[in-house]
Amino acid sequence: MSVSLSRDGDVAVILIDNPPVNAASQAVRAGVVDTLATANADPAIAAIVIACAGKTFVAGADVREFGKPPVPPFLPDVVLSIENSAKPVVAAVHGTALGGGFEIALAAHARIAIEDASFGLPEVKLGIVPGAGGTQRLPRLAGMVTAIELAASGRRISAGEAQKLGVIDRIAEGGLIAAATAFARELAGKPLRRTGDLPVRPFDEQQAAAQIAAADKKARGQISPGEAARLVRLAADLRLSEGLARERAKFLELVGSEQAAALRYVFAAERAAGKIPGLEDVAPRAIGNVGVVGAGLMGAGIAVSFADAGYSVTVVERDQPSAEAGRSRVESLYDRMVKSGRIDAAGKAERLGRMNFFADRAALSGSDLVIEAVFDDLDVKRELFSALSGIVRPDAILATNTSYLDPDAIAEVVANPQRFVGLHFFSPANVMRLVEVVRTATVSPEVLATGLSVVKRLGKLGVVSGVCEGFIGNRIFTVYRQHCDFMLEEGALPHEIDAAMEAFGFPMGPYAVNDLAGLDISWARRKRNAATRDPSERYVVIADRLCEAGRFGQKTGKGYYSYADGRKTVDPEVTALIEAVSREGGHVRRSFGPDEIVERIMTAIVEEGRKILDEGIALRASDIDLVLINGYGYPAWRGGPMYQAGLAAADAQ
Ligand code: 3HC
Repeated sequence: MSVSLSRDGDVAVILIDNPPVNAASQAVRAGVVDTLATANADPAIAAIVIACAGKTFVAGADVREFGKPPVPPFLPDVVLSIENSAKPVVAAVHGTALGGGFEIALAAHARIAIEDASFGLPEVKLGIVPGAGGTQRLPRLAGMVTAIELAASGRRISAGEAQKLGVIDRIAEGGLIAAATAFARELAGKPLRRTGDLPVRPFDEQQAAAQIAAADKKARGQISPGEAARLVRLAADLRLSEGLARERAKFLELVGSEQAAALRYVFAAERAAGKIPGLEDVAPRAIGNVGVVGAGLMGAGIAVSFADAGYSVTVVERDQPSAEAGRSRVESLYDRMVKSGRIDAAGKAERLGRMNFFADRAALSGSDLVIEAVFDDLDVKRELFSALSGIVRPDAILATNTSYLDPDAIAEVVANPQRFVGLHFFSPANVMRLVEVVRTATVSPEVLATGLSVVKRLGKLGVVSGVCEGFIGNRIFTVYRQHCDFMLEEGALPHEIDAAMEAFGFPMGPYAVNDLAGLDISWARRKRNAATRDPSERYVVIADRLCEAGRFGQKTGKGYYSYADGRKTVDPEVTALIEAVSREGGHVRRSFGPDEIVERIMTAIVEEGRKILDEGIALRASDIDLVLINGYGYPAWRGGPMYQAGLAAADAQ
């Protein structure tokens, strides 16, 4: 039985028990309708509680039912039967009340939650809109502006924030079900507060219009966020029943869309990425104290990620001034978060309280895991790991954040190399969700499993990669960039390629990204690797020429573009330089349309992806898609290049 009914005096407790996340499957929907009817028909019952067993309140509709013929009762009917109950219904929330789960709670006459519960409408992330009243009821409780923001972004709010917004009534002190039962008893016999009957409070029309426009813009081609925002806005104009009908129609339209299918694939891909053949029965180790060596931009971002997730963090730099500079860098990252409202001053102090900065590696002796983010040079890293081997516990996990070096060459100097793993973060590390967990030749299953579990605790997405130049992501990105350069040489211009890729859905084109990141780092790498380059391989000198001319990107005011007055503009000097390179190489320049640009890049990416799969560097095609989506801005709503090429069908779908 996925739904049971028990009685506590005059209060009926409806308990949903459908592991793992209490998704609102057909059995759950039918069970709630039936138990609700039973409770309403029972004269000894005065009020009703809806709660869940296990780790969470209902985490949404059952996504496995999407794409199959729907079987009644449908979720909107369940939700209406809650709202129309003659006896008060209190939703008792723990864990995550998401999507249809949040909608069930919104339809109850009151909501109580434990402090670490959270709420959200993540439907847009699945390419759909809420389909059981979320867009119509949330604005009636939270106000228009907040409701648009939450429905369009899918952002989760904590119980505390939900209470401040008026979305929930109480935070439970003590046991949740006991508190909910007492609350329900208080409401018995009193007039019911039905969310759907509440008016939408007056709001700033212009602000709402601007939010809707911003949702469309930010979605870069994804339909659902703007549609969710528009539906919320309608709540102010339409009667509840009309608003619900509009919402349902849009839900049904989008649930069958290509974008929703692609995003469901991504959802499944993310769950598949954490399942590594051979590690099913391997328990990850508990990690408490984490050391970070190097507090440059990358190291500071990594340290912040760990402190945010509650780890104690020891940051080590080479000398006192560098350690102080590291601390300032971390502080300024937190200042930015305070400014943007993501954390408050107390949150900053709490996180900084978990961090210590030292100029002496000996401070790492108590660490369970040490990750380095020092200069990406083999000798530098080998010296560091050889020294660390004598400082940390013999079983402490050692991790490298290298992007391009061979971790197995670093492992040679590590005592007990089965504890050595790659954790390749993307910059800025405290923001970017992807971490490639690099399976070195020597790493033990336990250490690999621990790497993945730590990344998950950071709230990030870990994808396992085998060892090769650039791992999964940078290896593909290098090929992507090469083909862009080939097109430059053959007749395209940077702004044409950028515009094509931005129209495809990337937040920035490759040359704008290059200008932002700086051209000098990859130039230095090319110079280091010049001696070993295969002379028969096609090599485009445009980037080198730009660097020789001092054009290192935004930081020097010019790169592929000019930034003379702070604005990115096409620079005739760059056009002339590219044309000269084409002439020297004997290329007759021709024009490239956006479709050809995208197709050429996609073909190159997929071809490299196939090689990566064949070599066993990636475990699944869907892992490659996840790397591109989460590390390089590939539009998630397209599913990823391997999915689009039809190569991922058997993986995560
Ligand atoms: N339906 C079916 N299965 C689901 C599910 C859902 N809504 N949500 C999670 N699961 C499954 C996962 O696939 C996974 O299965 P597996 O063990 O076989 O791989 C299992 O539950 C555990 O999931 P996670 O590994 O993600 O567990 P976590 O503890 O890390 O996270 C969670 C739990 C926060 C609930 C996360 O799973 C999540 O975000 N789920 C999606 C929630 C969501 O998108 N809800 C909206 C659905 S659409 C909707 O409600 C439409 C409505 O408006 C009509």
